[in-house]
Amino acid sequence: MKVSVHGCGYLGAVHAAAMARLGHDVVGIDVDAARVAALAEGRAPFFEPGLTALLAGTGGPGALRFSTDAADAAAAEVHFLCVGTPQSAGSGVADLQQLEAALAALRPHLRPGSVVVGKSTVPVGTAARLAAGLPDGVGLAWNPEFLREGHAVADTLHPDRLVYGVPDDGGEALVARLDAVYARLLADDVPRLVTDLATAELAKVAANAFLATKISFANAVAEVCEAAGGDAVALVGTMALDRRIGGDYLGVGLGFGGGCLPKDIRAFAARARELGVGDAVSFLDEVDAINDRCRDRAVELARAACGGSLADRRVAVLGAAFKPDSDDVRSSPALALARAVAAEGADVVVTDPQALALAQAAAPELGYAADVREAAAGADVVVLATEWDEYRALDPHALARVVRAPHLVDARNAVDRARWRAAGWDVRALGVAAVR
Ligand code: UGA
Repeated sequence: MKVSVHGCGYLGAVHAAAMARLGHDVVGIDVDAARVAALAEGRAPFFEPGLTALLAGTGGPGALRFSTDAADAAAAEVHFLCVGTPQSAGSGVADLQQLEAALAALRPHLRPGSVVVGKSTVPVGTAARLAAGLPDGVGLAWNPEFLREGHAVADTLHPDRLVYGVPDDGGEALVARLDAVYARLLADDVPRLVTDLATAELAKVAANAFLATKISFANAVAEVCEAAGGDAVALVGTMALDRRIGGDYLGVGLGFGGGCLPKDIRAFAARARELGVGDAVSFLDEVDAINDRCRDRAVELARAACGGSLADRRVAVLGAAFKPDSDDVRSSPALALARAVAAEGADVVVTDPQALALAQAAAPELGYAADVREAAAGADVVVLATEWDEYRALDPHALARVVRAPHLVDARNAVDRARWRAAGWDVRALGVAAVR
């Protein structure tokens, strides 16, 4: 099948390559010429494990092309919309400009019988509005994407579920078209759920809001543990064994960031307010506030480790990406923490295995180092802010030799505290009472 993918960011680039892997003839469209050029050469324009291999293994010539010109999508039978829907400046509302622009560029090239399939995360009601503006004979479905950065290839090729939102009118034909697109996944028994458009749009934001709520729940309990003398990591360990709860997204630490969870909970709350049901999701404001407090509490631990003031102290921050296996620093808790520490007068040196360049561009006021040894040299405190495997595996004896004082703030509960303490470190962790 001929397929086009509009927007070649984290979502679209992976989706385009995955569609080619599923045997389709794919063209990816993006307005960013540098990104298109990189992808056309088989290079991933951002760090995403497995994407380069996927781009390289997507069949013969012509099976996967990239272009800046929406006219090159004219022959496609299915057009996927994968552009970003960031948070509007100054409000929680989703900014749909890229979506509107991609559709406006595509519209003159839409042939009767072709279908538009939205994958971007949008405020509920967007799909019905866009459908009403399409030319006669062109249908629209909403097929939200649940991939995680860092696991995008596996999540796309082995999803937990496929959700097709379709209108009442013409829905069967759209379902048949999507079944043809995803035939190889359906053959692997991936559950496929057909809903109306609004439910499919909401399915995405509801899932992200639930994940954010789970994380903030763990971090709220962590605040209580810190005050009460408990250990939140041990506590969530007891919860995780309850099969009704499960252990995923109960990590105690610096909280959530990235291009999705923070902006999606705000956009969800903003849309609910527009619909007159803001009270139903007002708890999401609290989820957001708990998440912000994680950073404040981590700064407090660093301050305490330095004897009450961070002024003129050297602080090594390990991690800048919003999570491991990503170079993305959008709404990164690690970078927010580094900025907050610097605002108290500390000399901050940040390191990260993948995100250094993007971190430097986003926060040029901070100091940077190529590796942990360099970052930690002469440090008064080391803060572990993103739980990369290589940071979990650090040798505390070797690191103790380069720092000025062996203070560790484990803001992700990533290391074996006993092992670090045995190597002479004073270890403080979020969710754990200071005395432990
Ligand atoms: C998230 C969702 O997990 C995907 O299902 C969704 O498709 C995607 O948003 C999206 O909307 O496009 P992603 O932003 O890539 O994916 O990242 P996650 O792996 O979910 O992590 C989000 C944040 O939560 C990270 O900052 C991570 O460090 C943090 N986190 C995660 C915690 O603080 N604690 C946890 O226990 C788990």
